[in-house]
Amino acid sequence: MCGIFAYINYLVERDRKYITDTLLTGLGRLEYRGYDSAGVAVDGDSEKEAYLFKQVGKVAALREKISTQKVDFQKPFISHAGMAHTRWATHGIPSETNSHPHRSDPTNEFMVVHNGIITNYKELRAVLEKFGFQFESDTDTEAVAKLAKYIYDTQKKTMGNTMTFTNLVKAVCKELEGAFALIFKSTHFPNELVAARRGSPLLIGVKTAKKLKVDFVDVDTSDLSNTVSADQNQQTLLALPEQPKIRRTQSRSFLGEDGVPMPVEYILASDASAIIEHTKKVLYLEDDDVAHISEGDLHIHRLRRDDHMSSVRPIQTLEHELAQIQKGAFAHFMQKEIYEQPESVVNTMRGRVNFDNHSVVLGGLRSQLSNIRRSRRIIFCACGTSFHSCIAVKGLFAELTDVPISVELASSFLDEQLPVFRDDVCVFVSQSGETKDTLLVLQYCKERGALCVGVTNTVGSTISRETHCGVHINAGPEISVASTKAYTSQFIALTMIALQLSDDNLSKMARRREIIDGLYRLSGDIRQVLTLEPQLKQIAQDLASEHHLILLARGYQTATCHEGSLKIKEVSYIHSESIAAGELKHGPLALIDSSMPVLLIMNKDRHYADTENAFKQVTARGGDPIVLCDCDDETPIFANSRTIRVPKTVDAIQGIVNIVPLQLLAYHMAVARGFDPDSPRNLAKSVTTA
Ligand code: F6R
Repeated sequence: MCGIFAYINYLVERDRKYITDTLLTGLGRLEYRGYDSAGVAVDGDSEKEAYLFKQVGKVAALREKISTQKVDFQKPFISHAGMAHTRWATHGIPSETNSHPHRSDPTNEFMVVHNGIITNYKELRAVLEKFGFQFESDTDTEAVAKLAKYIYDTQKKTMGNTMTFTNLVKAVCKELEGAFALIFKSTHFPNELVAARRGSPLLIGVKTAKKLKVDFVDVDTSDLSNTVSADQNQQTLLALPEQPKIRRTQSRSFLGEDGVPMPVEYILASDASAIIEHTKKVLYLEDDDVAHISEGDLHIHRLRRDDHMSSVRPIQTLEHELAQIQKGAFAHFMQKEIYEQPESVVNTMRGRVNFDNHSVVLGGLRSQLSNIRRSRRIIFCACGTSFHSCIAVKGLFAELTDVPISVELASSFLDEQLPVFRDDVCVFVSQSGETKDTLLVLQYCKERGALCVGVTNTVGSTISRETHCGVHINAGPEISVASTKAYTSQFIALTMIALQLSDDNLSKMARRREIIDGLYRLSGDIRQVLTLEPQLKQIAQDLASEHHLILLARGYQTATCHEGSLKIKEVSYIHSESIAAGELKHGPLALIDSSMPVLLIMNKDRHYADTENAFKQVTARGGDPIVLCDCDDETPIFANSRTIRVPKTVDAIQGIVNIVPLQLLAYHMAVARGFDPDSPRNLAKSVTTA
């Protein structure tokens, strides 16, 4: 859940100020992944020393602290390896000692930044403490740094020589259980970095003044036999690897055209938003990859043999522009992303929906279309907002495909060990494509032979790579922790899947045409909703002092209610509850009186009469609901109520229009209460731990 970042230059002179600025700016981009504390490691004045700077709070606080340090910021480095971390506490409270980088010892021989969770850290810690290591923090990561020193020292003592940095990291990783993206820096290996990943994302940007001669990096598997195998038995835990054979590595990939090493900078990060301002050339590490950067070269090694794994890592070109990931004129990313929706919904449909002949073609599903149509059940699986997008389309899938549909929370799927079969189709929806809960269910369904479909917003993410086929929602990078534009794009992407699956069914033609016409108008409808912002700001200010809010709706709008309620609670910290209006009389009506704020969604669809009933039930108990309704609805019953009037569209996609005012309402409630909506407390953007 944390963000890791590193920068290493070779034959490009950079002073310490440039290096720390680069590290801090990179961290700033990753802050949405966690922000209770931050830290950086940079070289000291000699190669044998390193400075660690840490600070509780946001990256700005760390920047402030570093600016007051008595160090020579002008000192130039022709090669320098620095790394940084922004933390979201999992083991141990937010504090300076718990923040990363963690170190092996007070002289900083080995330093580590980590994203993920080491599940066997207690066992490792116990063994290392027996060997005399004294721990400073309560974190799982510190055991990794100390383990590196233990293995390094023991090799030196017993074999009389030292290991290469790569072999050392491989030996360390073999002892780790859980999930990790790790970057190591060491005073024993100045100007080198080693990174490893298993279950947490990590990518490497390559920046050179020259054109790269190659567009891939070979993976080196030649020394797999030299690495120690994991041993769970504590007696033999921390066994040492054999002496590595001396050999020439094969992946010296970034030589200049004349064959001499060329100036190069590498940027390592948990995601592309921290890399793109330096370079668009990136490669994604796979699970069990160990990347070693030294003297301008990048070598990728493997922790274990995997015959299905490709032996090259392609260097890809990032498509997003830096401007896309900056705030622009908006006060917060959340507000900016809400305002991007008239465009992002079009991007989701671009090249896929033909509005003239009412057809939908999703290239990513083409190869599996007939298998999906033949499936005996479609299971949607996701968490949080992504889960709500699945609920939003459940009715439409049932209606258009005639296939039984189930929508499951990834975070509890495995608790129930739900049965999954070969003829099931499992659709995994995830903005980040890295959500651990969703990934675990994906693995479970794959093992049972189900066809797995990914719907993600992140090209190259683990879910997009691990699924058999899928759809990229093309919403553009979402920085705000609270998901907004990803929700509307997920909703559209799933709607497009339902439309394509049913395009061979003549009886559904009229309904499909109606929905596709509605999709055509969607961008304009959202634009119209955005003009309501001043009114929504006023309502938000009225609600800002409340402690509770109930959201009510029926049918298609139940998902809107769930999502609106989640937005309100996560950014404004006001307890909000979404209730299917039909359930009122089964219990929640007891909560209603004149002091309980209620928001009722009441579009003129086939549930209108039932929703009117809910309105009456609330007002009869003294409630005064705010009504979200169609802009032309003049029904006298809510003539005296506060209304939020939105353009009317087709019932199945009305939720895309309706959620926008609720997003704005949540945003302004947070601002009115003095909270930063981009950094809700206790939350992180990408939940890469289960
Ligand atoms: C809420 C929010 C979360 C995510 C959830 C799943 O605003 O963003 O509820 O939707 O953590 O994340 P992804 O979609 O990345 O799998």
